[in-house]
Amino acid sequence: MGWEQHYLGRQITADEAVKAIKPGNRVAFGHAVAEPTAIADALVRAKDNYRDVEIVHMVCMGNAEYAKPGMEAHFRHNALFVGAATRDAVNGGRGDFTPCHFSDIPSLFTDGCLPADVACIHVSPPDENGICSLGVSVDYTKAAAKMAKVVIAEVNPCMPRTMGESFISTEDIDWFVPVNRPLIELVPPVLTDVEKAIGKHCASLVKDGATLQLGIGSLPDAVLAALTDKNDLGIHSEMISDGVMHLMTRGVINNSQKTLHKGCCVVTFLMGTQRLYEFVDGNPEVQMYPVDYVNNPAVIAQNDNMVSINACVQVDLMGQVASESIGLKQISATGGQTDFVRGANMSRGGRSIIAMPSTAAGGKISKIVPLLDTGAAVTTHRCDVDTIVTEYGIARLKGRTLRERAAALIRIAHPSFQGGLLEESEKRFGCPLSR
Ligand code: COA
Repeated sequence: MGWEQHYLGRQITADEAVKAIKPGNRVAFGHAVAEPTAIADALVRAKDNYRDVEIVHMVCMGNAEYAKPGMEAHFRHNALFVGAATRDAVNGGRGDFTPCHFSDIPSLFTDGCLPADVACIHVSPPDENGICSLGVSVDYTKAAAKMAKVVIAEVNPCMPRTMGESFISTEDIDWFVPVNRPLIELVPPVLTDVEKAIGKHCASLVKDGATLQLGIGSLPDAVLAALTDKNDLGIHSEMISDGVMHLMTRGVINNSQKTLHKGCCVVTFLMGTQRLYEFVDGNPEVQMYPVDYVNNPAVIAQNDNMVSINACVQVDLMGQVASESIGLKQISATGGQTDFVRGANMSRGGRSIIAMPSTAAGGKISKIVPLLDTGAAVTTHRCDVDTIVTEYGIARLKGRTLRERAAALIRIAHPSFQGGLLEESEKRFGCPLSR
């Protein structure tokens, strides 16, 4: 049977497709802006047919109806990353959270730790050889699809055909759900003065020719906005958004000095506006690879002068970085932070930066604290931490004693919290920090 026969013969509606999902199944969803939302909506419509269906995925950019109150008997969300739409479910006991490095997620699906019965994915229409692109989210999709007993794909002409190891054959898909709707967009944030100041400090640590990874949140955009006078930058990053496209268009990012994948950006997923999705369509300068390759610290480290820039919620005076929870409240996840901190630390000439505003809650809370909130998960270990940046400056912690770290961090804390932090640290170290 030719691929066309298989493809055309197995096209069904989302409502029909979800009949392949059985009570008690574990269902892996593609994530971020490649979430198969037509399938998710159909599943919710048919909720009365389901009990104990586990829905597992990374970033949720949809409405996560299956995780809303009232859905408990039907679905249970297992979050590999917690976002705005799934925070209440995870922290309210209606969902679960599985801690993991992003780089490990494909192997969770393939090595039997997290076997999926069904994979629901979102792809571009097939080319003349019956090959679809995984588009804006390559990361763990193929691994989940490879191991699942049933693969259901939304096929969307709005999904860009991205380049790299981003393809899946129609033969590896069981059911095709044709859809035609624009992808979810991530609108670039309006930068605050604090974010602009942080962006400038980070940019001062980026030399011409460096390769960059930029994390999630508004700070990556602030950093990119401050890099316009740099030359020959490269990208090896878990994620990119519109800011990278703007610097590519201006020639600031040209990937010419990269020591791995010279001439192209390497990423595992992307989120941005329609302009970005059009920019990456068939563009060989943006190569998408699975996350167990992109985020593998040993691969990251093959980029000389690799600079990783990620955000966090709290740093204690020893340099322990909490990026995913406020005390026991899980607000996010490890994602690729540790992968890139370790990879950048191992890179020749590399550097890992954790950047954050010095305060939260409208200036009422210092993000630099004597001790992390009780129950906070440490995302970046104190032995891995290199550089912390706030709007007040740069603190290099690598190779510094605990006392030196405390002094460096207090110097970049908000001035209204410096006195209290100084008192706490002097109590702890038994001598003034200036000594
Ligand atoms: N105490 C109390 N609340 C805090 C806080 C603190 N120390 N720090 C942040 N918050 C609150 C914020 O006020 C905000 O609350 P709101 O949603 O009610 O406004 C919320 O926590 C999120 O913080 P914010 O700083 O706005 O988040 P962000 O969108 O800039 O993302 C991280 C920052 C740290 C959550 C995000 O970068 C992340 O998830 N990092 C971990 C994963 C990672 O680094 N991946 C990198 C590879 S892509």
